[in-house]
Amino acid sequence: CAIASVMVGKRVRSRRRWWKVVRVLDEFEEAASTPVGRLRQVVDAMAVEMHAGLASEGGSKLKMLLTFVDNLPDGSENGIYYALHIGGTNFRLLRIQLGGQRSILSHDVERKPIPQHLMTSTSEELFDFIALSLKEFIERNGNNQIRGKDLGFTFSFPVKQTSLSSGTLIKWTKGFSIEDMVEKDVVECLQKALSRRGVDMNVAALVNDSVGTLALGHFYDKDTVAAVVIGTGTNACYLERADAVIKCQGLLTTSGGMVINMEWGNFWSSHLPRTSYDIDLDAESQNPNDQGFEKMISGMYLGDIVRRVIHKMSLESDIFGPISSKLSARFMLSTPLMAAMHEDDTPNLSEVAKILEETLNINDVPLKVRKLVVKICDVVTRRAARLAAAGIVGILKKIGRDGTAGITSGRVKSGKSGKMRRTVVAIEGGLYLSYRIFREYLNEAVAEILGEEIAPFVSLKVMEDGSGIGAAMLAASNSNVDTVVQV
Ligand code: GLC
Repeated sequence: CAIASVMVGKRVRSRRRWWKVVRVLDEFEEAASTPVGRLRQVVDAMAVEMHAGLASEGGSKLKMLLTFVDNLPDGSENGIYYALHIGGTNFRLLRIQLGGQRSILSHDVERKPIPQHLMTSTSEELFDFIALSLKEFIERNGNNQIRGKDLGFTFSFPVKQTSLSSGTLIKWTKGFSIEDMVEKDVVECLQKALSRRGVDMNVAALVNDSVGTLALGHFYDKDTVAAVVIGTGTNACYLERADAVIKCQGLLTTSGGMVINMEWGNFWSSHLPRTSYDIDLDAESQNPNDQGFEKMISGMYLGDIVRRVIHKMSLESDIFGPISSKLSARFMLSTPLMAAMHEDDTPNLSEVAKILEETLNINDVPLKVRKLVVKICDVVTRRAARLAAAGIVGILKKIGRDGTAGITSGRVKSGKSGKMRRTVVAIEGGLYLSYRIFREYLNEAVAEILGEEIAPFVSLKVMEDGSGIGAAMLAASNSNVDTVVQV
């Protein structure tokens, strides 16, 4: 009888502990939920903030930066061009050969991880590393006689551009922090490092990665009017009418339009489903109160949100065994590993068990607990993908391509002509490209928000390496051209 009562007591305690964990999960799921009604509020808030950011400098958390790109590639570009891309986990070097008629004859890309210490070192060290890598890349590609060639430079941070080929860094994001760079002209820094290393190249286009992606999208398909990057960080850009950029009265462009770099990672709205884990992540980050949208969506942060939820559960119960010290260390669980757990299709979730063991030192968890971990990954990813989808529809709304102008006599209206136009959004970035479930959630949510009548007019097209290739194309189409006059 005594033994039986001990056993019952154990069962009750263990059930209680499980119940606590379920409560943590339910609360998290509820706080992170994204029903379509809430997503529509985010859509509206995005469109409103876009207007505010275009109306005045500092009018919104959305910076809505001028890019001085007023003509996007149209496929007629010819010749060999180089590009550099810095801004995420990897640094990329590219060489492309364009053959006119929308053709890319050859395309070489090299990826190098950026040594961690350079992300927080000095601008000279960082740019010397970049210049040397470019020099070696050119030599490896058997073209060391290159002189005076135009270079596309993708710099994926917020930059206040003063022309297509100059601009100063506003602030760092995504874990970079090199104090002496802020407010410096990034092209000047690169150009100096290139001459220190004896590389005779000229930066013809300084572009954000989202702008490069839009350029490549437009090269293939002229209905591409916006681009989104979802990788280590997240951002979007789109083609705006020059006269809509109220904060820059008298902006003259040859095409009457200009690509705007939204820096949407910094978007904020009270409609965003923020949880206590987001609040803690933000407070402990290098840039508190900044990049709120990015911290809910991008690859730098998703794994860390999952880690925080598991940590909370392990404090409330012992279903994860003794509390692992690794659970309290920031960024201990990376997003690629989180995705691998989420997409584990082995019958007993052995990949989940392996990752928990190897990265978080959580051992021998039963199947029920592994399933719980997959569920946490699902909640985090679903919210991220659906919020990014709402952001995309927000852009479409701002430019009158979401069909909300009305539907008459079976025709969906949008824009001046009254007809709904075909719209393409180019997408790039490791998270979207390599995380299947994320991609599916995002695509589904765009269709769900737009509704079945409008959704067929909108397509999302993957532009792998678009950020770099597009920069090379912009260098090609803008070499020695000064098309923008600011009055
Ligand atoms: C961060 C940067 C932004 C970049 C994005 C994607 O949000 O601030 O410039 O486009 O990451 O790489």
